[in-house]
Amino acid sequence: MSHKKTALIAWNDALMTGVTAMDEQHKILVNMINEANNLLDETAGRDVYMEVVKDLISYALYHFDEEEELMIASQYPQDLRQQHIEEHRAFSRKVTTIQQELVQGKIIHRDELIGYLNHWLVNHIMGTDQQLGKALQAPVNAPISHR
Ligand SMILES: [Fe+2]
Repeated sequence: MSHKKTALIAWNDALMTGVTAMDEQHKILVNMINEANNLLDETAGRDVYMEVVKDLISYALYHFDEEEELMIASQYPQDLRQQHIEEHRAFSRKVTTIQQELVQGKIIHRDELIGYLNHWLVNHIMGTDQQLGKALQAPVNAPISHR
């Protein structure tokens, strides 16, 4: 039987949004997924899966809130904001479902889980988040700071 591991995501410039706070949080998410990939080896029991999923959803929710705040603060167009938020919610729903399945004793396959996380994150960053990053950096649309 093959125990070949899912490939890790290597952080690289193609994942940058140009918004420091977002990029720092994305790096943490990439690290968390890579760490999950290492932790969830053949010896990992349900408790390890539960812990990994709990930490991931917890950090992801914090990160989504931060981005959603940036969208409100910058008056990002409503339709783009809705679409963006919907992608966040779809991720949260999926990971929450996995969490519930773990509680119910269902076997979760590591490669399927890591594959989903990698795929979702890279796609979301390289599409939706970079679009937001561009808007946040555009001088015309820059929010007025009242600090
Ligand atoms: Fe996002």
